[in-house]
Amino acid sequence: MNDRYNSYEKVYDSDAEELSDPDGLLMTQRNAVKRNSTRGLHLLTHLTAVLTGIILCFLALKWESHHFQRTCTDAKLRRSSVVPEELSRYSETVRYNGTLDFPSIYRGTWEEVDAAWIDVVNIGFLDLDVTDEDIKELGEDPETLARFPEKDGGGYVMTIEYTHQLHCLDLLRRVNPWNYPEYLKSADATNNEGDHKHTDKMFRTHVDHCTEMLRQILMCHADTTPIFEQWVSVRSHPWPNFNTVHQCRNFNAIHKWSQAHVKSVEVEWPERPAASKALAVPP
Ligand SMILES: *[C@@H]1O[C@H](CO)[C@@H](O)[C@H](O)[C@H]1NC(C)=O
Repeated sequence: MNDRYNSYEKVYDSDAEELSDPDGLLMTQRNAVKRNSTRGLHLLTHLTAVLTGIILCFLALKWESHHFQRTCTDAKLRRSSVVPEELSRYSETVRYNGTLDFPSIYRGTWEEVDAAWIDVVNIGFLDLDVTDEDIKELGEDPETLARFPEKDGGGYVMTIEYTHQLHCLDLLRRVNPWNYPEYLKSADATNNEGDHKHTDKMFRTHVDHCTEMLRQILMCHADTTPIFEQWVSVRSHPWPNFNTVHQCRNFNAIHKWSQAHVKSVEVEWPERPAASKALAVPP
């Protein structure tokens, strides 16, 4: 498995299946065509069958993606994402690795694993062609949204949810008791500038905010997969098997897409234009 971001095993790739199935159909038809190549009528029949097959597969895929959009996003929103539709689909069936000491690249001492976390958390502002119409479809009001000045390429000032969510988990990781001494030496803890200044109160609020965000995210997704318990000879009571199977988005592909869509120029926070409409307090 060459997917470095998935700390679980891919059991089954439904994308590959969808692509290989019609191909399998084609192969069968092609062999049949070969056997009957002397008879033009049969050739025509088979070609028609192949074409019908392709069209049916195409329609099935289209229906599936629309069905997914309908059932998995807020019914009031016409869209919930800015990534291409194929990336927002749950295209992979994977088995988590819930073995207690599973050696993921995100586990270990601060120095050992910090680079892995930085890679998935620190992503710059996205550089996307998002119109006011798109903003409304996403359920937001474009009026108070910040934009980059033209010299920085314009566009809305935006990042993407999963990086903030992973940042929150990363913050909890960094402030846990065995990493805390290292955390205190880090740039984050010594940050004494600007709105994010980590005073003791802001630090507590930030950690609490992250815990609260993760709570909302986990409750939003309320995973209903059953966890069975197994007999284990070296354990005195049944032991939970957390290696459960899930439909997942392709994190690797989404992260690559995001990295390919960050602003290519180094940008600063834009200044608020005097004429802009602003909220009275942070949202
Ligand atoms: C989880 O990881 C451990 C340690 O690498 C490995 O022995 C085990 O087979 C893995 N389990 C699953 C379900 O992939």
